Amino acid sequence: MERFRIAVIDDEPIIGREIKRGLSKEPRYEVETFLDGESALQRLVQVGFDLLLCDLRLPGMSGLEVLQEARKRIPSCEVILITAHGSVDSAIEAIRAGAFHYLTKPVKMADLRLLVKRSLEKVTLVREKEALKEALFSQNRPSEIIGNSKAMLNVFRLIEKVAPLDSNVLIQGESGTGKEMIARAIHQRSGRKQQPHISFNCGGFTEELIANELFGHEKGAFTGATETKIGLLEAAHRGTIFLDEIGEMPHSMQVKLLRFVEERKLLRVGGVKQLPIDVRLIAASNQDLKEMVKAHAFREDLFYRLNVVLIQLPPLRARPDDIPLLIRHFLEKYSRAFGKKMKGVSSEVLEILSRYPFPGNVRELENIIERAVALSDELEISDRDLPSDLRELSIKNLETEPKLTLEEMEKKYIQEVLAKTHHHKSLAAEILGLPRTTLWRKMKQYGLE
Ligand SMILES: Nc1ncnc2c1ncn2[C@@H]1O[C@H](COP(=O)(O)OP(=O)(O)OP(=O)(O)O)[C@@H](O)[C@H]1O
Ligand SMILES: [Mg+2]
Repeated sequence: MERFRIAVIDDEPIIGREIKRGLSKEPRYEVETFLDGESALQRLVQVGFDLLLCDLRLPGMSGLEVLQEARKRIPSCEVILITAHGSVDSAIEAIRAGAFHYLTKPVKMADLRLLVKRSLEKVTLVREKEALKEALFSQNRPSEIIGNSKAMLNVFRLIEKVAPLDSNVLIQGESGTGKEMIARAIHQRSGRKQQPHISFNCGGFTEELIANELFGHEKGAFTGATETKIGLLEAAHRGTIFLDEIGEMPHSMQVKLLRFVEERKLLRVGGVKQLPIDVRLIAASNQDLKEMVKAHAFREDLFYRLNVVLIQLPPLRARPDDIPLLIRHFLEKYSRAFGKKMKGVSSEVLEILSRYPFPGNVRELENIIERAVALSDELEISDRDLPSDLRELSIKNLETEPKLTLEEMEKKYIQEVLAKTHHHKSLAAEILGLPRTTLWRKMKQYGLE
């Protein structure tokens, strides 16, 4: 049974209650009431309302403003405006602004039900059309990658452009921003998608080990080499190789890799014959390779070979717009996985998560939601389901605490951010919006070093 989510917004509680009572007779309707537009809009993205019934005259935002905002956030959302008796002008204005219908007060329940039914039929039609488009499109779209912020839309556009080419790609971004995911999406959208996509993490290995893994060896190349071993580059022939944490690759190995990238020929360890290999290279790093080149920690020539196209993934705290979408995505993912029927998160939780700087980026958010879905006994995630250090970020908690002076507050906040970033000073300075030198001065002043 298809369900519909309806919000009723009226500053007179009795009207909201009446409408809710009238509509709730239809079991497919889930109705929530609000006293002002702001709180309804805040909930809109979390819940994904299909229909808003909104009083034209409200405290704060007007009904028309709510209508426009709602359309911006969820274009398929229908709005029925309720106007005071006889105000024809505002009704005309409402229709111009794109309201599907309007009703005049006092609202007759029979009329209302009919209008609601018709608006929702339109919602169903739009949804079916979207689903169809989605099905046609989904083969090409990196649909599992969530994001609607400007920065992520740029990333998607870039993926689209470079995927079909054979150019090497360098993906940079903090840990947990989705580098591996993007690499996979590029492979899947390239002409090589039927061929292997092989990942190798260069972190923490010696040159010998990496050479052995990437290039393979001939039988008898060294003691213990009892069989010929095919390396990962050879195994990825005609496909893609993903070299993760490329910044960790020892210097001597960088030279060998450069030779391979330039010649596209490979010599197994202990081998004599060069084998031509056709492979696309995608490299990733959570450090700034250009800075590493400047510090002579990474070879410049190799950097230029890898960095034909650069995809820079922004940290999650730089794209707060994506947080509600990601919450929804992971909520659905883990509800399905755990056989639960979670509907959303409380506005408290949304508030806390919008303020948290996520040093572990999307991976951290995913873990938080997974844990919360597993713990929750309700249909909605509440702040009780969050880890305790996060719960402390709640405004409610801040309000009940004894009042601090501005200085004490500043000290406490700096302390908090330092702890969250594991004393990563430049990151902390960035989050706090302070020049690094100012942060150091303040840390000294408050004895936080
Ligand atoms: N935009 C996104 N939409 C959906 N899930 C995402 C997104 N970005 C990251 N994730 C999820 O977050 C987790 C971490 O992503 P991934 O492993 O790609 O990050 P990474 O940048 O490679 O991190 P690291 O540097 O630590 O290896 C994965 O489970 C991935 O599915
Ligand atoms: Mg990774």
